[in-house]
Amino acid sequence: MPTLSWRAGHMIDTTPVKPMECLLITGASAGLGEEFAKQLAARCKKMVLVARRGDRLATLAATLMQTHDVEVCCYEADLCNESARVQLHASLEEKGWQPDGLINNAGMGDYGTFHESSWEKTEAMIRLNMEALTHLTHLFLPPMIAAGSGQIINISSLASILPIPDFAVYAATKAYVSSFSEALKIELKEFGINVLAVCPGPIKTEFGQVAARNGTPIAANMREWFYVNKEQVVAEAIQAMDRNLARVYPGWQVCLAAAGISLVPLALLRLLMATRPRKVS
Ligand SMILES: NC(=O)c1ccc[n+]([C@@H]2O[C@H](COP(=O)([O-])OP(=O)(O)OC[C@H]3O[C@@H](n4cnc5c(N)ncnc54)[C@H](OP(=O)(O)O)[C@@H]3O)[C@@H](O)[C@H]2O)c1
Repeated sequence: MPTLSWRAGHMIDTTPVKPMECLLITGASAGLGEEFAKQLAARCKKMVLVARRGDRLATLAATLMQTHDVEVCCYEADLCNESARVQLHASLEEKGWQPDGLINNAGMGDYGTFHESSWEKTEAMIRLNMEALTHLTHLFLPPMIAAGSGQIINISSLASILPIPDFAVYAATKAYVSSFSEALKIELKEFGINVLAVCPGPIKTEFGQVAARNGTPIAANMREWFYVNKEQVVAEAIQAMDRNLARVYPGWQVCLAAAGISLVPLALLRLLMATRPRKVS
């Protein structure tokens, strides 16, 4: 039974939140993944941090273990690679660590026209944003089902509800993430497993640099007020997880944009997207 109290005009759910036994976060070496690790360390007994830059993971792990009562294991892996995902799963099994929390956060974009894109980058994006997220969920679900509890957070995007010219494949991969998460949430309800799709708008992280082609800046005409900082994105995502929501658009401006997009008929949306100023020629 939830305990509710009033604070500063808001109703706050003060029910103690169940700690996580073991939380696995992908893409924890930067941006949102690193922030999830910082904000959730106090609630976890064990944490697994995954990314390619092992040095960054080690620095973060050391800080977390100094400041919190948490055991952290770092795993250096390129998640585009199927065998690396299988190895990650096998190593954790061998160690006896069974994640009851999974944050599929690692992701990348590629900004520019589709016909001029490099196939290697496009393929890596498809593998990371969709294949790795789906495969890791498939690998780590069985023990959660057996235990009758678990938490999966998939990082999607506001782009998941909007086909975006010059960001076509990225937006399509995120449409997959939102759709997959919504369906999975319904499938897994009877097993006590919660699934949340987090759909942020623009955030200042390394994402923009990775998505840019040949150093072309991509956010030149993005309005400053539309950015939400990573601390707020993660705090709102955790709040949504605790409330067992299916989806969250962190930041009032992003929430408003999502509501607006959902009300606009597709024909009008096509017109708007076709006539908006392009950031690449
Ligand atoms: N920033 C935004 O504007 C924005 C908006 C909406 C949604 N998102 C989504 O938020 C998520 C996090 O992005 P971010 O903004 O935090 O970006 P970021 O700062 O670039 O961080 C991306 C993380 O993913 C990891 N990663 C990238 N490729 C990988 C690979 N092949 N194997 C393993 N790890 C890999 C990176 O670590 P290594 O390089 O060390 O491997 C890094 O830790 C992504 O799914 C992104 O699509 C971002």
